[in-house]
This record gives sequence, C-alpha cells and structure tokens, in this order.
Amino acid sequence: MSSSPVDRNRLWSRLDDAVAKQGVPLPTPVFVVDLDAFDRNADDLVRRAGGKPVRVASKSLRVPVLIERALAQEGMHGVLGYTLREALWLQQQGICDDIVVAYPTVDRGALAELLASPAALAAITLMVDDPAHLDVVDSVRISSSEQVRVAVDVDAGLRVARQHVGPKRSPLGDVAAVLRLTREISSRPGFRLVGAMTYEGQVAGVQDAVPTSRARSAIVRRVKSLSINQLAVRRREVAAALADVADLEFWNGGGSGSVEETAADPVVTEIAAGSGLLVPTLFDHYRSFAPRPASYFGLPVTRKPTAEMATVHGGGLIASGPIGADRLPTPWAPAGLELTGLEGAGEVQTPLTGPSAARLEIGDLVWFRHGKSGEVFEHATTVHLLAGDEFVDSVPSYRGCGQSF
Ligand SMILES: Cc1ncc(COP(=O)(O)O)c(C=O)c1O
Repeated sequence: MSSSPVDRNRLWSRLDDAVAKQGVPLPTPVFVVDLDAFDRNADDLVRRAGGKPVRVASKSLRVPVLIERALAQEGMHGVLGYTLREALWLQQQGICDDIVVAYPTVDRGALAELLASPAALAAITLMVDDPAHLDVVDSVRISSSEQVRVAVDVDAGLRVARQHVGPKRSPLGDVAAVLRLTREISSRPGFRLVGAMTYEGQVAGVQDAVPTSRARSAIVRRVKSLSINQLAVRRREVAAALADVADLEFWNGGGSGSVEETAADPVVTEIAAGSGLLVPTLFDHYRSFAPRPASYFGLPVTRKPTAEMATVHGGGLIASGPIGADRLPTPWAPAGLELTGLEGAGEVQTPLTGPSAARLEIGDLVWFRHGKSGEVFEHATTVHLLAGDEFVDSVPSYRGCGQSF
C-alpha cells in the first residue's frame, strides 16, 4: 500500500463508512484490523520465506482470532510465544499445539502447570540459555518422568572488536558455550533438547531505508550485511557441533524485517514473524518489504482549541523501547495531521495541527497507527475486523479474554 495523501484520505472515508454502517456508536478508541491487508501481508511473509515455514510471533498480534487466522495460512506453522502462561492458555484454548516460548521463564506457578499437563508438555518448548533456567524447572518437579522440551537461544549479535551489536539476551555466543549448556541439558533427566534459536534483531527489527535519515540507513544496511555474514558462520559451526549431541526438530531465526536473509541460511529451518502482518509504523521503511499497514485506532475529535486545530480524546498509546519520537502513535488518516511538540500524544487528550486539522469537526474520527504491532492491543478489549468496506466481525484481544501476559 502506498502512504500517499490520497490513499490516506481514501482510508479515512473507508474506515468512517465502516463505522457508520455499524448503525450503533462504537466505543472509542475504535481498534480496527484491515483483514485484506493482513492476508496480503501473510502471503508476502510466506513468499519471502521461500518455502520455509513461518512461525507466528504472537506478541505482535495479541488477538486470538488473528493468531488463528495467521496459522490457517498455508506456509505458517506454530506460535512463537512470549510467556509460558500465554503458551499454556493458547494450548488449553485449542488455538495451537506447537508453541515455542521465545524467552526464558522463571515463573514457577506456570512451570508447575506445564509439568502437570502431558498435553502442554507435548505442545510447548521452553527457551533456555543458562543452567539456572533448568534449575527453576527442577525446583518445581515432582518426578523426572515429565519430559520438558527445551531449545537453546544462541546469541545472534554482531561482534566487532569488543563491541556487540544486537539484542542483549543470550550469553551463548560460541560453540563452546552452547555445548556446555547442551551437555548440562543431556545430563539432567527430564529435559529434551529439541531446537535452537538465533534472533538477529539488529537485522530483523531496525529500519534501513528511512527517507529522512539516509546516512544512518546506509550504516544500518552495512551492519545488517556484516551481521548476516558473521552469523552464517556461527550458525554453521554451532549446528555442526550440535548434530553430534541432539537431533534438533527446528532452528528458528529472524523476524519480519529479515525473512529472506534468514531463510537463505541453510541451517535455519523456520522463520519467526509477527509485525509484518499488521505493519506498525516502526516497520515502515525497510528495504526488504513494502509495508501494507493493517492496524489502526480511531479517536474522536472532542474540542477545537482554535479554528486551525483539533483535539482528540485519548492518544497516548506509546510504544516500548528507547525513548524517541518514533515511539509515538502517528495520526494517519486523514493525511496532513501532526502531533504538537509540547503535548505529543497525551494521556487523555491529543491536540493535532497540520493542514487537515482545520477541516476536522467535533465528532469526527481521526485514525492513528501505533509504533508497534501487538502492543497496541494491550489498550483494547475488542478489535473490529474490516473486510472491503465493512466490519465483518468484532473479536476480543487477549485483554478482552481477560488475559494479560
Ligand atoms: C525471539 C524473537 N524472534 C522474532 C522476533 C520478530 O518478531 P516480529 O516479526 O514481530 O518483529 C522477535 C521480536 O522481538 C523476537 O524477540
């Protein structure tokens, strides 16, 4: 989708028409997912993965129906979850029976639940990078007969001299460190090593074609290319060493911004992706794919502080990460609206300026895009699904299901 002003104004009419067709006033914020864009993004991710399955990163959706919709797509398989409690819930709800929890857990209550359920033990894989993660599991075990599926998270950062560029997560940075942990896993009854993961966040999650910062984008592209080359060697070495120790079911890698580069590595058997389905603003401006935004929230204009301005109710749905303007939501439709420097996106009210603000009237809806993908739905209980020009369903988010992970 292009983000031209014409397209954004067309989107404004389309969304407003869909709201009007509902016939009843919708509570605001009105959270909307455009299914046409979502499905095309799903096709695109599968195409980019070049035949390797895409594992759905659920943190970037947080709406059960959307997770199911992605899983129904040919070429997508399994969930990359973000907490063990979430994984247990997805398994209990029958939403997925192949869930890799991408981040280590020390949640003893959830582990006790996992150990008590043969179905959950068969469906869920825990991520580990330290013997302490195994100790926590053992601390709640009653017997060693419960086989816990584990995967090792191998650091995928770029090392240049003493610098490390990439997510600061796993201490397993070389073959020796990985083998130390895998020997520990093999020596303990009740654990089965089934997979490995390398998440190259410095490639998958950093914009590299930002029109307003060309020099920085050029540096990012250089870092990405160095990372891919260095990581290919590390993956190959670790995989060769692991082949003598375990028969791995999967090697997970990548994210929405690196699908084709990660898929090109023969060691990787599956690609993780989530943000590429909804395409929040932090996933605009990637060289590797054309964004097709699929998620919006509508806020009503409630005040006109001056004839040239409009103030909407709500707005401060800020994305996590390093503080910066890119973490703010973006007034998207109609085109030609800006946040103010003084108030930004406010807790209860958000003033808007720009050429379109003058034509906004009290009661109009302004449609925003969030910086991040699933995180926006932590503010939502209900999400309206748009197909063509109308809402075809209204579905609960995790929050709407009474869940907060
Ligand atoms: C382990 C892991 N894999 C993959 C991803 C990519 O997810 P997405 O495609 O939603 O950016 C992330 C994002 O943070 C991650 O932490």
